[in-house]
Amino acid sequence: MEKVMAKMVVYHLLMLVTVAMTSILVESANTNNVYSPCSDTTVQLSDGFTFGIAFASRQSFFYNSNQQLSPCDRRLSLSSSNSQISVFRPKVDEISLLTINTSSFSPDSYGGYMVAFAGRKYAARSPPAFVANSTYTVTSFTLVLEFKKGRLQNLYWKRDGCAKCAGNSGFVCLNNQDCAIKTSSCKNQNGSVDCSLGIQLAFSGTDKHLSVMNSWYEVENLRQYSLYGLYSNLKNSLTGEYSKIF
Ligand SMILES: *[C@@H]1O[C@H](CO)[C@@H](O)[C@H](O)[C@H]1NC(C)=O
Ligand SMILES: *[C@@H]1O[C@H](CO)[C@@H](O)[C@H](O)[C@H]1NC(C)=O
Ligand SMILES: *[C@@H]1O[C@H](CO)[C@@H](O)[C@H](O)[C@H]1NC(C)=O
Repeated sequence: MEKVMAKMVVYHLLMLVTVAMTSILVESANTNNVYSPCSDTTVQLSDGFTFGIAFASRQSFFYNSNQQLSPCDRRLSLSSSNSQISVFRPKVDEISLLTINTSSFSPDSYGGYMVAFAGRKYAARSPPAFVANSTYTVTSFTLVLEFKKGRLQNLYWKRDGCAKCAGNSGFVCLNNQDCAIKTSSCKNQNGSVDCSLGIQLAFSGTDKHLSVMNSWYEVENLRQYSLYGLYSNLKNSLTGEYSKIF
């Protein structure tokens, strides 16, 4: 599997709220030395945590066409199929916006679906999420990483319907859950919109010292997509012409 061009932007939520003091003073270090998305680990708050996102066709994430396995599982033979992988290392319990630049990578030419994954013996993987086909491209996602005593238990895509794009003629609502742009309007198809993918992360559950992760709670309160407008370096890109909806 090749690596796609990936960039991670970290947003320090706590810096903006009044409890900021403690987070600035307690700038603790990473203690997680596992850097492969296909290895097991347990984490504490402030650790980095490595996970991957694989792009491929929906069926290539299933073994015997009905059992969804982790992309790390060799029985899927994803590495020999038409797939790509991105690896990220966000900080645990820190709200992050990951971006995958699609200027030279068209998700629809790699099967159009993505799965987030981490771990091997304790493998966790998200359900496949539709990203793009030749007609539609979805660019905004929220991924929840759920931990229990510091071990990743579950990865899932959080959707809140199409309220964010209702009434915007640039978007189509797919399956009552995803706001999609016409693929033909994407820059990598000679259109005018940068259809780079934005994946907002949220952490929930407990770390290995049973400290509670709060970023999920914060994302819910901020409402999905509200972070996009705060990333000034993404202006004219992720949200592009549609920035008013965020
Ligand atoms: C693209 O995906 C949409 C939504 O799932 C579907 O309705 C449409 O038929 C697909 N188009 C192609 C060309 O596969
Ligand atoms: C985009 O335009 C270039 C130059 O005109 C052309 O070679 C290329 O095939 C076009 N790509 C698509 C996806 O239409
Ligand atoms: C993606 O890369 C292109 C070319 O380097 C750049 O012009 C564009 O702004 C990037 N988009 C994002 C969202 O970073």
